[in-house]
Amino acid sequence: MPHARSLLPRVLPSLALGAALAVLGACGDSSSGSDGSSDGPASDSDDTSNPSGGPDADSGATAETLDPGETTGADDQLPPTNSGELRPWLDDGGYLGWTAESAPHDSAGPHFGTVRTYVNQALLDSLDAQDATHPQGAAAVKELYGDGDAVLGWSVAIKTQADSAMGDGWYWYEVYNGSVFGDGLGDGTCTGCHGGGLDYVLTPYPLQ
Ligand code: HEC
Repeated sequence: MPHARSLLPRVLPSLALGAALAVLGACGDSSSGSDGSSDGPASDSDDTSNPSGGPDADSGATAETLDPGETTGADDQLPPTNSGELRPWLDDGGYLGWTAESAPHDSAGPHFGTVRTYVNQALLDSLDAQDATHPQGAAAVKELYGDGDAVLGWSVAIKTQADSAMGDGWYWYEVYNGSVFGDGLGDGTCTGCHGGGLDYVLTPYPLQ
């Protein structure tokens, strides 16, 4: 199909961008220092982010609000939605604590061969309830094995808002054998097929 052909030109710019991001990432790391614990000022300013929001602040009824710096456990449940941070998160196996399919199996889609899907708690609960719409923060990571036993890449989908908005409400990412095939909100390489799933999720549930 002509579709497959159009992937080729996309790969090179993606790689170049990836390299640029890697360089930026390295610069950022070296300039900010490795132990941020004593570099207080930046994080202190977060506490006063809403100085004018007086009356509501004492109610104590906002306990569910996500605190960006909360815990490392929360970070594991919610992968980064930009490739520069997502890629190292995947390399580090940030998703390995999620609920997974029991073993790699043949993909029913164009996902390079054998695959194994992991879902975070938010997506697991939503699939279990057979909800027609998954909540913001629902996420799936699929390991891509190709024809072998080693993980050669990942497909990722993360819901970034309550409304799936024709796929724009999901961040899509895929890397396989060093080539990036999807990277962005509503990525058209991914949304066509996934629009046929249960709110963009195609993996059968219960997980096989
Ligand atoms: C031609 C159809 C098709 C296209 C295009 C497609 N997928 Fe999939 N995808 C599937 C199928 C089918 C599954 C179910 C698991 C399997 O059989 O691989 C799946 C599963 C997934 C999963 C596991 C969660 C779920 O929805 O089941 C992720 C994550 C995923 N795909 C990401 C992507 C990304 C990112 C892209 C674009 C780069 C993409 N997919 C393009 C067919 C497709």
